[in-house]
Amino acid sequence: MSDAPILSALNLVQNLDEATDFERKHTPYVSLESAGDLTKVSVAVGHYVGHPNQPDHYIQWIDIQVNGNSIARFDLAPVAAEPVVSVCVRLEPGTTVRAIEYCNLHGVWAAEAVI
Ligand SMILES: [Fe+2]
Repeated sequence: MSDAPILSALNLVQNLDEATDFERKHTPYVSLESAGDLTKVSVAVGHYVGHPNQPDHYIQWIDIQVNGNSIARFDLAPVAAEPVVSVCVRLEPGTTVRAIEYCNLHGVWAAEAVI
């Protein structure tokens, strides 16, 4: 049985300091690293609070978007693949990147970072 509260279509936690462990477990952690004219975007789910990675409860995919368009997408198998992904992107400074993840039990969660 899920411990999920009522979820919205896309869960975007505004203040992690006030978030529940359930929210922190699902909110993607987005980090940015300059790599020449590229930026390495890394996304991890379970960074703040560990998230299960078993066949009955896991992160199915992680999508990285700019202006609502997917620029990188990762489909993940449970157990074998951890929900930790990276991609190098070529984007203008000031661009907002949104990372979205899908938990098979608890829906869609997002976080943003500005390059
Ligand atoms: Fe979950």
